[in-house]
Amino acid sequence: MSIEKKWFGTTDDGTDVYSYTIGNKNGMRAVILTYGGALQALYVKDAHGKTRDVLAGFDDMDGFLHRCDYQGVLVGRYCNRIADGKFTVGGKEYNVTRNEKGVTCLHGGGEFSRAVWRARVLTETAVEMLYTSPDGAEGFPGEMETSVTYTLTEDNELILDYKARCTADSYINLTNHAYFNLGGFDGGDILNTELLIRASHYLPTDERSIPTGEVRSVKGTAFDFRKAKPIGRDIGEEDEQLLMCRGYDHNYCLDARAGEPAAEAYCPATGIRMQLFTDLPGMQLYTGNFLQGAPGKKGLPMYRHAGFCLETQFYPDTPHRPEFPSCLYKAGEVFTSRTSFKFI
Ligand code: BGC
Repeated sequence: MSIEKKWFGTTDDGTDVYSYTIGNKNGMRAVILTYGGALQALYVKDAHGKTRDVLAGFDDMDGFLHRCDYQGVLVGRYCNRIADGKFTVGGKEYNVTRNEKGVTCLHGGGEFSRAVWRARVLTETAVEMLYTSPDGAEGFPGEMETSVTYTLTEDNELILDYKARCTADSYINLTNHAYFNLGGFDGGDILNTELLIRASHYLPTDERSIPTGEVRSVKGTAFDFRKAKPIGRDIGEEDEQLLMCRGYDHNYCLDARAGEPAAEAYCPATGIRMQLFTDLPGMQLYTGNFLQGAPGKKGLPMYRHAGFCLETQFYPDTPHRPEFPSCLYKAGEVFTSRTSFKFI
């Protein structure tokens, strides 16, 4: 096996973007771009022996540059939301980009997702993406170096190893925003996909999608995925949280034990089954509620529920919630984390 590097396109300012394809002996392939450090495609064999790309997204730069709703990209410095786009560290207030309705910082202002990362091939099955965010970028303190290594194993596991370090005390919350469709990117919506999440609690949000502070039991609600059920089974319930977000767009407080998958998904049509492992305390389940039919791969429109995201992370808005697990890192302190997607 070896990693194949190809030219993928250029950004609007003329920077070249490359793709790196990692394959294994079972015919699984992961395509990673220097743009946004994105996981652009993930080819998996289905139960009938047919290879399918299980990610909704784009097959050209134009899509990534002009129609992107974070499909496949890495997200930092702070994924998900920071209320009012400000926080205080060491007595100093920082104002960060308010890119959602002019009030909230969403996905760190998008900086990491739009950046062209440097790539380093580490082995025949691992490629590292590197990005240095300048001091003050999007209003965040310090210069932050980030590395995300994608490794594909012979057990059909795609591992993402995150590492970051900032020159100032700051919050660090990184994720990947892949939209999975285990029926294939051309396989219709994800409502029949069965999902299991090992979480007995989730975080309800207010109308800004900011956690209210309540840690609510999933018991007896549409949010209960402790036993596998189709994503679409309860999504249309008259639940104020579902109605407000047009579906699931919430952080689950994971209670999986080490070595146990935090989530599992299965598509009955293709027989593709995926397990998700993470060492992080939270996972945002987002069911593509705001997708509006922008043309994606092969020009096919990506409508509402064309994919689902399992964004592993610290809980949203931690800077304002000292009771949540902390993601405040000291200057020079190294943040590391691992999330993986395994196909069985
Ligand atoms: C957010 C959604 C948002 C999507 C794309 C998700 O992480 O929770 O509200 O629409 O990202 O930006």
